[in-house]
Amino acid sequence: MRGRGRAKKRSGGVRFFWHFEPNGVGWPVFRQRMNELKDQVEALGPWVTRFSVLGTSYGGYYDALNDDRVSRAVQFFPQCTRILEVGCLEGAHTTILSRMYPYAEIVALDARQSNLDKARFLTSVYGCRRVTFGLEDLETADLAQYGCFDLCVCLGLLYHLVQPSAFIKRVAARCDALWIWTTICDEVSAETVVDGYRGRMYQEGPLDHALSAIRPQSFFPTLGSLVQMLADAGFCDFQVMNMEQTPNGPSLTIACSKRPFRLPGRVGRQPEAMVVC
Ligand SMILES: C[S@@+](CC[C@H](N)C(=O)[O-])C[C@H]1O[C@@H](n2cnc3c(N)ncnc32)[C@H](O)[C@@H]1O
Repeated sequence: MRGRGRAKKRSGGVRFFWHFEPNGVGWPVFRQRMNELKDQVEALGPWVTRFSVLGTSYGGYYDALNDDRVSRAVQFFPQCTRILEVGCLEGAHTTILSRMYPYAEIVALDARQSNLDKARFLTSVYGCRRVTFGLEDLETADLAQYGCFDLCVCLGLLYHLVQPSAFIKRVAARCDALWIWTTICDEVSAETVVDGYRGRMYQEGPLDHALSAIRPQSFFPTLGSLVQMLADAGFCDFQVMNMEQTPNGPSLTIACSKRPFRLPGRVGRQPEAMVVC
C-alpha cells in the first residue's frame, strides 16, 4: 500500500511523518539528515545569505529569501515562462523566483563559482526545479547561448559594471522586459560622460567578497542617462519606483518593457522629470 508506515491516523486527522517526531522510529534518521545538512552548509561557507530548514537557521546575515524587490517583480510581470537572473549571488532570489513562477525556466548567472556552488545547494534544498546556473562575467558575456527570456531580473548588478549601456543592449537583445534595482548618480555628482551617458565613476571596495564587483571601477549613470540607455537598447516603456537615498547615492527600482505596459494609477510623467531625493 502506498505510504504504508509513513502516516498514522490519530484523532484530529492524519499526521504525516509522525515517525520523525522526537522519539519516533525515524528520529535518528532525521537527526542524521539534519547533521549532514549542517555539514554541507558549513563546507560551502562562509555564507552571506541566511536561510532556514525545518526551523533551524543557517548561513549569514542577509535575509534575501524575504526580499520584496523580487516579489514586486513577480506582481509586475506575473506571466513569465523563461526568466534570466543576473548576479544571482547564493541563489536566494533564484529560490523566490522558482517558487513564485513554479512552471518557469530560470537561468541564473554570476561571476563567482563559490556563489554558484551555494546557489545550486540552496535551490536544491528548497526543491527548486527548472533552474540552470551559469558562470559568466556579465560585463562581456554572450547571452545568446541562453536563448530568449520574458524577463531579466537585475538586482544589485548594474552598479558593478563599467559599461552598463553595453550590458543593457545585450539583455535587450534577449529579454522582453527588465526589472532593475540599482544605485545611480544624482545630477549634481555627475562628472563624466561614458559612451555618451552622464554619470560618475565609482571606486569599488575589496573585490574578494561574495557581494562585490569583479573590477575595481564601475560607472553609475544619472537617472536620465539610465533611462536613455534603456530606450537606446529598445525598451519603450518605463516605470521608476521606490527611489530612496542609500550610502552610495540614490537607489531605485525600474521596470521596463519592449511593449507598452499600462497600469492602474500609473503616473504619466517622464522618469527624467522625477526629482531624485
Ligand atoms: C551586490 S550583489 C547582488 C546580489 C543579488 N542580486 C541581490 O540583489 O541580493 C552582486 C552580485 O553580482 C555578482 N557580480 C558582480 N559583478 C559581476 C559581473 N561582472 N558578472 C557577473 N556577476 C557579477 C556578484 O558576484 C554578486 O553575486
